[in-house]
Amino acid sequence: MAEAAKTQTAEKTQKQTVSLTIDGRQVTVVKGTTVLEAAASLGIHIPTFCWHPKLKSVGACRMCYVEIEKNPKLQVSCATKATEGMVVYTDSDKVKQGRKAVIEFILLNHPLDCPTCDKGGECDLQDLTFAHGFDDSRFEFQKYRFTDETVTTTFDDVHIGPEIVLNRNRCILCYKCVRANKEAFGEYDLGAFQRGNITEINAAPGEQVDNPFSGNLAEICPVGALTNSDWRYKIRVWLTKTAPSLCNFTSSGSNILFYKEDHRNWVYRVTSRSNDDVDDGWLADVTRYGYQIANSLERLQTPLIKKEGKQVPASWDEAMDVIHKRFCEIREKKGSVCIGGLAAPNLDNASLYSFSKFLRKMFHSNNIDFRCDYRMLPEKSDSIFSTLCTRPFKISDIDDSDVIVTFGSDLVREHPNEYLRIRKAYNFNSPKIYSLNPYSMKSADVADLELVYKPGTDEAVINAICLAAVEENLVEAQHASRLKEKLSPSSLSEAAAYCGVSESDLKVVARALAEGRKVTFIIGELITRSKARETIAAAVANLNLLLKLENKGQLVALARYANSMGAARLGLLPSPSEAIAKELTSLWERFPDCQPHTTDAMLALMKKEELNGFFILGANPMMLYPDRQFVREGLE
Ligand code: SF4
Ligand code: FES
Repeated sequence: MAEAAKTQTAEKTQKQTVSLTIDGRQVTVVKGTTVLEAAASLGIHIPTFCWHPKLKSVGACRMCYVEIEKNPKLQVSCATKATEGMVVYTDSDKVKQGRKAVIEFILLNHPLDCPTCDKGGECDLQDLTFAHGFDDSRFEFQKYRFTDETVTTTFDDVHIGPEIVLNRNRCILCYKCVRANKEAFGEYDLGAFQRGNITEINAAPGEQVDNPFSGNLAEICPVGALTNSDWRYKIRVWLTKTAPSLCNFTSSGSNILFYKEDHRNWVYRVTSRSNDDVDDGWLADVTRYGYQIANSLERLQTPLIKKEGKQVPASWDEAMDVIHKRFCEIREKKGSVCIGGLAAPNLDNASLYSFSKFLRKMFHSNNIDFRCDYRMLPEKSDSIFSTLCTRPFKISDIDDSDVIVTFGSDLVREHPNEYLRIRKAYNFNSPKIYSLNPYSMKSADVADLELVYKPGTDEAVINAICLAAVEENLVEAQHASRLKEKLSPSSLSEAAAYCGVSESDLKVVARALAEGRKVTFIIGELITRSKARETIAAAVANLNLLLKLENKGQLVALARYANSMGAARLGLLPSPSEAIAKELTSLWERFPDCQPHTTDAMLALMKKEELNGFFILGANPMMLYPDRQFVREGLE
């Protein structure tokens, strides 16, 4: 039996793979692999312009020519699937001639303005011309030039968006920008217009290329046709040094590279440090351009200390001294309970830990928090909502989920990387996608069904899905009867009417969740900022229990800030979990026992002049806290 099964598996594997020969070397690849990818798996590099690993191939540029036995003409390897017994040559004389011709053809109208082009030093056309092109030009005619009333010379560029500059004369029409914009980002503000050799890439009529992912277009353009306005004409790329880092503006942790000049403390740009587990090489604009705050001349360059009602510059030592002295005075006179602190949830772990140690170990205070962007903070770290927030989540698990639900989330704004990942799943695996929101969202453009429920019925809509699951006999009988007893309204028709959605739509979602093989269920900010989030979380927990969602995927309320999870796990909460408190006690030999207060409570205490020392690290409660007046009064 075992032998038969083994043979069957071997046969199946054989059917799913193909073997071919590339440059005399044998390779076996999964069916559907392109010749380009098969060659790459052997370490054979084939030059490309229009191919992109995350986009569907279109075979636009012909640079990836290969010779395939029994084919009279050269073939484009990026769009040709490997087949059994195929014999491929990637470096024959015929291939070299073909590539030379492609380069020559591209250069017919391409300006030779490399000295002033911002792509110089990282331009695919420059590199491939050097590697594969002619060393002379046979072209005797005037190059075609795009000029109009706003653009009069080769060097004039058009601002097609706040961050994107277009030079049509440099465009080699690989269509990568238009394809990425549409396919990967779901945006239509850029297009290809006209035909033949006057085809041009441009912003859609009357539109600006200002979508939340626009910076990627300049990064993937193989030439200097699309460039970023923040980087243009500032520095040559070879004069910069790069430093790897992570995005500080979203919670996905996109992998990035900072570019800075060697001898100057100035960041010039951010590009992707592609990591398929996290970002697939795409960056949201907030990630790409957020670094600009680091260069702002309005940033504090030195500490300021208030003296006689005025803030005056001081040294760091002086500033540290003041904080230490004042906090000691307050502790002596009024006790540790009158000292508190608020840290930003996008600080690194080391800073957060030191902050916590400073307040808890040195000043014995439990008034410490990192949450200031919403009211009604959960008092307990083990509440249902808190548990929902700390569940494990892997962005790359979205790729092969067959059911994806987003609930109460403006995904594009809150979690741009997750949105792109859902689009990727939509493009390549066709999962069932459902969007549950109180109003229509852009991210629902890929949804099979957008359920727009009445505002304020977030909990009821989840309960209604539970009832739909019961009605469709998708849950165990014992759960079904208990659920019906507890819910109000307890009938599906009433619940559907209450939420303003149709019963049949609720049944569709319930069935998909019940039958899904791998489910991704993302809960967004409309829920996490809701005053009713504990009860909504309880409804989600019921749904989870009924349909066993967490056993077959991921169900999570996503954190909004870069290191909210780190802050929570380091115990930067007034009442951290017992396990964290125990761990910190063993490190610090003691854990404060004075009464803990949340951000809300600390601000209220300040207003009553019962909290006299407040240390804010990296956070801006005036910006984030919904009631600015409340913060102002507390701080004043
Ligand atoms: S602008 Fe750049 S990415 Fe877009 S088609 Fe032209 S060369 Fe390709
Ligand atoms: S890379 Fe294959 S045709 Fe452009």
